[in-house]
Amino acid sequence: MKGIILAGGLGTRLHPLTRITNKHLLPVYDKPMIYYPIRMLINAGIDDIMIITGGTNSGDFLRLLGNGKEFGLSHLHYGYQEGEGGIADALKLCEDFVGRDKMVVALGDNIIEKNIKAFAAEFKKQKKGAKIILKQVDNPKEYGIAEVRGCKITGIIEKPKRPKSDLAVIGVYFYPNEVFNIIKKLKPSKRGELEITDVNNAFLKKGQLTYNILDGWWKDSGESKDALLETNVFVKEHGANHV
Ligand code: G1P
Repeated sequence: MKGIILAGGLGTRLHPLTRITNKHLLPVYDKPMIYYPIRMLINAGIDDIMIITGGTNSGDFLRLLGNGKEFGLSHLHYGYQEGEGGIADALKLCEDFVGRDKMVVALGDNIIEKNIKAFAAEFKKQKKGAKIILKQVDNPKEYGIAEVRGCKITGIIEKPKRPKSDLAVIGVYFYPNEVFNIIKKLKPSKRGELEITDVNNAFLKKGQLTYNILDGWWKDSGESKDALLETNVFVKEHGANHV
């Protein structure tokens, strides 16, 4: 299984912090943010990793990470996303890298406390479709929100005005390589992006979307300046056991 970390975008929600660097290179307690998703993938047994960066500071990822020696890796793959076309637009760039394999896609600013090894093992056995991870949140208007009945997801709405549940879709997704055909058919949303929620809903429509509930804390550290600060404190106080 391949690992993909999406670390593009212009990080405008964090200006001026991101005016001269990429959001994913900002510190989260004692490490650059990007270290956390890399470690999460490695701890799940995934060591063939591609990082998609963007903006004007993408060269800094190479200076920081090189071939991933610090993580015990022999190589890392890099791609460059032009502009801010959204998560699904960035994922498009990984088609050749993934080939016929399956993949885990991690948003570079999502940090979790525990590991995803058991979910990855379950997904490896899953015959068709995709898997997402859900986590209960206090502020459901800020995320993709899933409505669930029993063991089935019935719908996902991106940043709903009137949320029907408090189960956020976290930024760690498991996909088969068929995801690239789905992305090719997507149309940009109102915010001008190819939405990952539309990708997940396409699998849902086919009856091919499973989910797990995340144990331990989760933070979208790049969501706002307050979220970034909170993540720093969480990592210091509780640890993110994958780093
Ligand atoms: C993105 C996704 C959203 C998901 C969130 C997790 O939101 O679109 O569905 O819940 O990541 O961090 P964005 O950060 O692009 O606003």
